[in-house]
Amino acid sequence: MKRMKVSQLLKETPGQEVIAKGWVRTKRGNKNVNFIALNDGSTIKNIQIVCETARFEEELLKQITTGCSLCVRGDLVESQGSGQAVEIQAKEIQIYGTADPETYPLQKKGHSMEFLREIAHLRPRTNTFGAVLRIRHAMAFAIHKFFNDKGFFYLHTPLITASDAEGAGAMFQVTTLNVENPPRNEDNSINYSEDFFGRHTSLTVSGQLEGEMGATALGEIYTFGPTFRAENSNTPRHLAEFWMVEPEMAFYEIEDNMDLAEEFIKYLVQYALDNCMDDLQFLNDMFDKELIERLRSVTSTEFVRLTYTEGVNILMESGAKFEYPVFWGADLQSEHERYLVEKHFGRPVILTDYPKDIKAFYMKQNEDGKTVRGMDVLFPKIGEIIGGSQREESMEKLQNRINELQMDPRGLEWYLDSRRFGTVPHSGFGLGFERLLLFVTGMANIRDVIPFPRTPKNAEF
Ligand code: 4AD
Ligand code: MG
Repeated sequence: MKRMKVSQLLKETPGQEVIAKGWVRTKRGNKNVNFIALNDGSTIKNIQIVCETARFEEELLKQITTGCSLCVRGDLVESQGSGQAVEIQAKEIQIYGTADPETYPLQKKGHSMEFLREIAHLRPRTNTFGAVLRIRHAMAFAIHKFFNDKGFFYLHTPLITASDAEGAGAMFQVTTLNVENPPRNEDNSINYSEDFFGRHTSLTVSGQLEGEMGATALGEIYTFGPTFRAENSNTPRHLAEFWMVEPEMAFYEIEDNMDLAEEFIKYLVQYALDNCMDDLQFLNDMFDKELIERLRSVTSTEFVRLTYTEGVNILMESGAKFEYPVFWGADLQSEHERYLVEKHFGRPVILTDYPKDIKAFYMKQNEDGKTVRGMDVLFPKIGEIIGGSQREESMEKLQNRINELQMDPRGLEWYLDSRRFGTVPHSGFGLGFERLLLFVTGMANIRDVIPFPRTPKNAEF
């Protein structure tokens, strides 16, 4: 007989012999009968195992405690109690591994998120992280489905790179040089020509530049992979290693880009509502009573679209007190973004046409000489969830901007070739996958939507 997952068992008709395997969530009962809630991760729900104590060795039953792992053979029967349709009348129980109640960290319920982060390797065994990780999987799947159905191609961009796509200088170096005694040039600078790649390399902050090579050949592509940023931002919205989805489309102007971003994010939220309701309901009940309501409202409202300049004017006229000052030219902080979304408009906002000085070199320059055709999608509770732009397709303008910013053009010649030969208008954006998950799960801290968070001073497991 084959083992059945709990998700399947709960749908089966009673009156058959079954095998279930999983971890014990709770055990309760009296001297005649024990009730074990068994979970195997396939669903937030447990299967109830009923053990008549007379049928089993006392020693075996004693060893069954919260956290231990079991194989149970028994009859699937209609449940006597409320809360579940079926349960298993146990006939045979095998313990795979015990979990000493004195030392098992998840012995009790109701641990704080902070405590669970310290045992990130065991967190997935909790109901909360099980729910988050199943939703994370569903969202990753939905991303591929959305783009595949639209005829986009999944392009694998490199993780090791010689170029700083965002120009923010927050990159992790990759080297095989002896860091204690690296080879030196005559001027004492490090001689990277002796390094593995014969040049200075880092972990990528974005797959966009390579994505543009894909889009200007295949038409519409997306990347979806890990990106790395060594910015020392200890906030509930920043990770040093996070996943980003970056579609890039030839022949798209900024309006097309905004339309796609809005459709994409609504699709993902709707997918979660359609496919993850058990987990969403749990998170809604446990953490955030407005979660499901908020998700529904996003799928049914049109996002507000306005320019950065209009947004800044609203903020300046608001009379609201902000920690960081607002003025034209300021890089908006999450408090400003959330004011626009939560207080002023009450729905998601897409801001466009940012001052060129606070945006990356590749954004398409507007006629006014001051702004670029960038767009940020701002969400309730999160602030910026998507950043993107139409790209500068003019070789001349792009080169001027690179010079203005005193970037080294030598490392970018390969990128400029896409403008040199058969350049086209094109656009793209990046969705922070964990920011999306913050929104969809209602979790308050980004460390709680990724299995093994990487943040400043934290990479143990
Ligand atoms: O706005 P960003 O920096 O844009 C880019 O990297 C572009 N190359 C994207 C593109 O046009 N293809 O980052 C995009 C998104 C942000 O909106 C945010 O959601 C997320 O990535 N993000 C982070 N998420 C978690 N931790 C961090 N440190 C993040 N930095 C950015
Ligand atoms: Mg951004």
